[in-house]
Amino acid sequence: MTESLYENLLVERDGPALIVTLNRPKVLNALSHAVLTEIDRAVDEAAGDDSVRAVIITGSGDRAFAAGADIAELQALDSALAGQRHSHDAHRLLHKMIDLPKPIIMAVNGYALGGGCELAMAGDLILAADSARFGQPEINLGIIPGFGGTFRLPRLVGRLKAMEMVLLGEMIDAQEAHRIGLINEVVPAAGLMERAREWAGKIASKSPATVALVKRAVNEGLEVDAHSAAGLEAVYFGTAVGTEDRREGTAAFLEKRQPNFSGR
Ligand code: COA
Repeated sequence: MTESLYENLLVERDGPALIVTLNRPKVLNALSHAVLTEIDRAVDEAAGDDSVRAVIITGSGDRAFAAGADIAELQALDSALAGQRHSHDAHRLLHKMIDLPKPIIMAVNGYALGGGCELAMAGDLILAADSARFGQPEINLGIIPGFGGTFRLPRLVGRLKAMEMVLLGEMIDAQEAHRIGLINEVVPAAGLMERAREWAGKIASKSPATVALVKRAVNEGLEVDAHSAAGLEAVYFGTAVGTEDRREGTAAFLEKRQPNFSGR
């Protein structure tokens, strides 16, 4: 049913997860404008369907998650303004992903370079196959990262490691990405999607209301000073306390049974 909406993605339901597969394997799933527009559509699809509890994003084939923004499109950018628009358009999408009240699990199955690495960093959880490679090679093309590499990367891995990646433009392997805190877990390539589905299933067993609240609290808290973050946390904690699911969760614990969350 959904196939016709997408030319560059495969979008399918798998239990509680919406699985979005970047599908331009001949160009290592490079992120063209059309791909970004379709990801935007898939995010809307996930947002509008209560039965979708998590999104998994991966790349088709076994070589790449996404080898960056589409370099042919970059070459065609003909002014500073066009470049700014290119970056702003991507940021609008990445913020929409961050604001989606459902977690996005990135299943990085190969190269995650430039915009591919930056797309992964806009996820809430990042799993990587042992074959994955990460990097911000823009400097080799005479540009700089434009989809979050200059601020999301240093927030994740620290200023020095980020500086090394954006200045040297070299790739790091999945083990190194794990060591520096860029990803959550390294998985044998054959087990990557199974692990992503397992995490989506675990998320689906929680209250969707509190999943949304905690995602928001973490993401908003990271953008403000600690004092303001504490204020936000108190508000969202209070919202969680006010849910039926809080009553159910605490009652289930005390009654030694599994909770049955309603999302209210
Ligand atoms: N945009 C557009 N096309 C891309 C691309 C990108 N970001 N990355 C790879 N491709 C294309 C290649 O042009 C090639 O197309 P062709 O078969 O028509 O020649 C195809 O994908 C396969 O890539 P190729 O370079 O031949 O594979 P490789 O195994 O030799 O190298 C990489 C793999 C990932 C190291 C290399 O493709 C690469 O460096 N890509 C660009 C990464 C980058 O700079 N990304 C940041 C963009 S801001």
